[in-house]
Amino acid sequence: MRPDSARLADLAGQWRSAYIHIPFCARVCPYCDFAVVAGQDDLVQRYHRAVISEIEMSDEWGPLDAVFIGGGTPSRLPPELAGSMIEALDSKFGLASDVEISMEANPEDINATSSSAFSKAGVSRLSMGVQSFDDVVLRELGRQHTSDQAQNAVAAAQAVFPRVSIDLIYGHPVETNLSWEQTLDLTLALGIDHVSAYSLTVELGTPLSRAVTNGYPAPDDDVQADRWERAAERLEERFVRYEVSNYATEQPCRYNLATWAQGEYEAFGLGAHGHRGGIRTRNLRRIDRYMEAVESGKRPLAGETVVSGWDREQERLMLGLRRAAGVITGPGGRRVLELHPEFVKAGIVKEENGRIVVVRTLLTDTIIREVLTMPPPE
Ligand SMILES: C[S@@+](CC[C@H](N)C(=O)[O-])C[C@H]1O[C@@H](n2cnc3c(N)ncnc32)[C@H](O)[C@@H]1O
Ligand code: SF4
Repeated sequence: MRPDSARLADLAGQWRSAYIHIPFCARVCPYCDFAVVAGQDDLVQRYHRAVISEIEMSDEWGPLDAVFIGGGTPSRLPPELAGSMIEALDSKFGLASDVEISMEANPEDINATSSSAFSKAGVSRLSMGVQSFDDVVLRELGRQHTSDQAQNAVAAAQAVFPRVSIDLIYGHPVETNLSWEQTLDLTLALGIDHVSAYSLTVELGTPLSRAVTNGYPAPDDDVQADRWERAAERLEERFVRYEVSNYATEQPCRYNLATWAQGEYEAFGLGAHGHRGGIRTRNLRRIDRYMEAVESGKRPLAGETVVSGWDREQERLMLGLRRAAGVITGPGGRRVLELHPEFVKAGIVKEENGRIVVVRTLLTDTIIREVLTMPPPE
């Protein structure tokens, strides 16, 4: 099946997944708003034990079709600790025979030795935070690696992992059209099977956001839209775009595809978000509180939300409309068409084979804002 197949997009809603968050980073990048800690590597072993306990205290379920070990920087973990977390998931839930086990990595951690150790630990797909192949952009993003290091890391990973993905960030004010073009050229030349290309977002509360408040140039919306278009044009020479920011030659990221299909996933670790039985949960985001909760035998929940009725239908559309395959129309889609016939007239949205698809991808967020505020049918 193609990465943007509607059948695959819908099937993914039935997959069972697990997410494990590894918060440790060498340094916190100025744009990053994830649950991360730097300079606390002495906590790694204790954190690892806490995650295993959290897995053990969860309810029976499974087997798992997809696992995502995200961060933070999971590649800072000793590979045997990643391996024992995967084993803990296997003994608790079981792993499907074709399970996909993705792990995020920073290029400075990846070489022939670490790649083969993570592969032996059970990781089957590596997703590397390259961000750019331009050293000027990398420096300004506060990254620890150079373009050469990233290329070597990708080559080392490809020699071991059947599937390698890279993340790119476009639209930093120091990036030029030429620099983005060269990053896309190199991306196409690597022979990897997946790319995620994100526009730089200024997240509130980050050092980047404070710098922008103090006069540092903010990313320009029009420039970012142009860069998205160029990425789509160029990357589609080799890949199929199956979501606003995601491209694959053959296989999409299973875990992400499952989340966009409103699928269910268990979540472990700092600040991790889960979804089971119509309830969305979020874990504590402070590492001391997270570990204290788990060590005293409690689930480390910061909160949970029951998502039902019309809210659930709006959520189904919000997630599904990001995919190239769109989403089964259903009551929410019918309501969009009823309240906003202009979307179809203007060629922004189409309805085809019982699905709603956003045709003008750059307007996806605008459509989703309307979806989230539309009242239920009377
Ligand atoms: C949370 S990071 C974890 C991966 C790894 N630590 C790294 O940074 O390479 C996952 C991806 O999110 C993207 N990302 C994080 N913050 C972002 C931001 N403010 N704007 C755009 N993309 C962002 C980056 O592409 C990054 O590779
Ligand atoms: S972007 Fe990646 S490496 Fe940088 S702080 Fe965030 S999680 Fe850590």
